[in-house]
Amino acid sequence: MKISDLFDVKGYGAVITGGASGIGLGYAEALAAAGARVTLLDVDGDRLEAETARLGREGFDVQGRLVDVTNHGALDAAVAEATERYGRLDAVFANAGIDPGPGFVGAWAGSERPRLVEGALENYTDERWNRVVEINLNGIFATVRAAARHMKPRKSGRIVITTSLASTRVEPAIGAAYMAAKAGAAQFMRTVALELAAFNITVNAVAPGYIVTNIGGGHSQDPVEQEAVARMIPMHRVGFPSDLYGLALFLVSRASDYITGQEIVVDGGWGLGAAD
Ligand SMILES: NC(=O)c1ccc[n+]([C@@H]2O[C@H](COP(=O)([O-])OP(=O)(O)OC[C@H]3O[C@@H](n4cnc5c(N)ncnc54)[C@H](O)[C@@H]3O)[C@@H](O)[C@H]2O)c1
Repeated sequence: MKISDLFDVKGYGAVITGGASGIGLGYAEALAAAGARVTLLDVDGDRLEAETARLGREGFDVQGRLVDVTNHGALDAAVAEATERYGRLDAVFANAGIDPGPGFVGAWAGSERPRLVEGALENYTDERWNRVVEINLNGIFATVRAAARHMKPRKSGRIVITTSLASTRVEPAIGAAYMAAKAGAAQFMRTVALELAAFNITVNAVAPGYIVTNIGGGHSQDPVEQEAVARMIPMHRVGFPSDLYGLALFLVSRASDYITGQEIVVDGGWGLGAAD
């Protein structure tokens, strides 16, 4: 293989959960622009329609399907349908996730991070805990399982899980279940990477730091919050879904053939600590 073809994903068939917005949409933009065929699975019908239409107008091969990752039967059917449509399944991104704040403090950055009664452990409801785990951990399990069912017989495939910097570093403005689910997803990633390595299937994770998306009601769209967070990040800026384009292409292409079981942090150095 020529080195210039290392990142070639032309004709690939890919599925992305949570693909109608933010990071998942960024993965879709990167793959589609590089010639892959992409199916977005999402619960947000309006965004799904708007984004697939936009990407279609740009000449890309992108489909959308209304699927809730907590409905494992619907998820299985959608992954099977995409595999059949493409005649192959090269890449699956288990990305859908929610951040139903608040955590036990009430702000993302700044010296004022007041404790919040509603985010405190003693007030954390079963419903909230279960909903986060249902989407951010069980949904990842079900997506990866669906992918493996099609990739294993073909002895080929790339699975990418979106974890978070929060899988190792606690962010107190997000609720506790998010930390637990992301840490669980990271260790699940390593477990299945080990299991599937013999079948030429790689499983890796992308762990973003602070990326401007619509998560958590879209708080990261607020320029005041962005400025405060940027001050804490060693590169002095917040991230955008486009900051993940290169990694998405790397993880699904031949360029990463021999890399599996890794969680790659994309955070402008935030996890390293404060610099200046
Ligand atoms: N934005 C960040 O700073 C950041 C940091 C670390 C990790 N992440 C992770 O990145 C992933 C994507 O989040 P984002 O920031 O792009 O948020 P986002 O809200 O912009 O996009 C998430 C998408 O997932 C969809 N979704 C939610 N629940 C779903 C379900 N049950 N079934 C199917 N789709 C569902 C939403 O409709 C939305 O389109 C999540 O797993 C999140 O935890 C985000």
